[in-house]
Amino acid sequence: MNVRVKGRSQHYRTVTFDAGKNSVMLIEQRLLPHQFKIIGTRDFRETALAIKDMIVRGAGAIGATAAYGLAQGARTFRGSDLAKFSKHVEAVYQALKDARPTAVDPVNAMNDVRRSMSSGATVEEQQALALAAAEEFANEDVDHCRAIGEHGGKLIRNGMRVLTHCNAGWLAFVDIGSATAPMYAAHQAGKKFHVFCDETRPRCQGATLTAWELAQQGISHQVIADNAAGHLMQRGEIDMVIVGSDRTLGRTGEVANKIGTYTKAVLAHRHKIPFYVAIPLSTIDWNLRKGRDIPIEDRSESEVLGAWGIIPKSAIRNPKSTYVRIANPSSGARNPGFDVTPAELITGIITPAGIFKPRDLWKNRARFGG
Ligand code: MRU
Repeated sequence: MNVRVKGRSQHYRTVTFDAGKNSVMLIEQRLLPHQFKIIGTRDFRETALAIKDMIVRGAGAIGATAAYGLAQGARTFRGSDLAKFSKHVEAVYQALKDARPTAVDPVNAMNDVRRSMSSGATVEEQQALALAAAEEFANEDVDHCRAIGEHGGKLIRNGMRVLTHCNAGWLAFVDIGSATAPMYAAHQAGKKFHVFCDETRPRCQGATLTAWELAQQGISHQVIADNAAGHLMQRGEIDMVIVGSDRTLGRTGEVANKIGTYTKAVLAHRHKIPFYVAIPLSTIDWNLRKGRDIPIEDRSESEVLGAWGIIPKSAIRNPKSTYVRIANPSSGARNPGFDVTPAELITGIITPAGIFKPRDLWKNRARFGG
């Protein structure tokens, strides 16, 4: 997407690779919306840490980061022994896979890279194939998001009020986004609509990232407290919900997404408001048989007990993120990062291949390459 940084509008991808430096280049998302900074990771361990510490986050973005990270790790191997090389690649794969457990995109992305590598006869060939496959994954992510926009944009009509949760936008992918792709497409088509961004406690990706993205694109929006959606739905002020997903089960249509998504789906169902989930194909898990088996990331209790923000005075000249404690000092917290929405609460899954009923993913799996 085009972003205005220091008065200049420029196109950025969230994840790129500097082959000369063997470095994965990432937008430091923890500094947004107050500061726009690009960082480079020096090796695959730093790349894994960038995923774990959420310098980069969002299903497609961590998928591309893991794909590049695997190529980055593979390219540091010296020697020609293929058995030693594949042991090394396996260690890189595990480090990147373990960084965050819920999103399936990193695993799907790295499996693609490894499949491509396997046709190389030498270490050098496999290293080159790894980077080419990572580039291909990133390009495909962009193509998928564009196609999601083409299908989903038609759902948005003039005057609609759309609710979204967390950030399934440009920042969560290589470009464009999943849940935001229909919004960007509708905006480009000249439609007028309004977006409510759930703030998405505890990390507030809606208030910080989605709101920043929509502001950058000039789309009318407001941030709402997570608890406000039910009230707005009851008053007829929300016409549609579009969210992303970190893992969607191809067999059942169940959707894992940021904590609080399930609550919104229940509310939307109660108020007969269409609830859509937008996903590229890399978010589909064709193996797991039930949502209960999706690994749900348990995150630090500090996220719930406090919050990060900018002291207003420092915001312009020297934006420094500061943690403030909110909760009672002697209390602990429970912090599951994701929840699972059952298929019956979902109106449709917006994919690059069209919009499907969640339970129809499986019978159409040939169309998705599943
Ligand atoms: O913890 P995060 O910020 O990496 O969570 C992922 C998400 O941004 C959301 O769950 C999103 O809605 C789906 S990712 C496209």
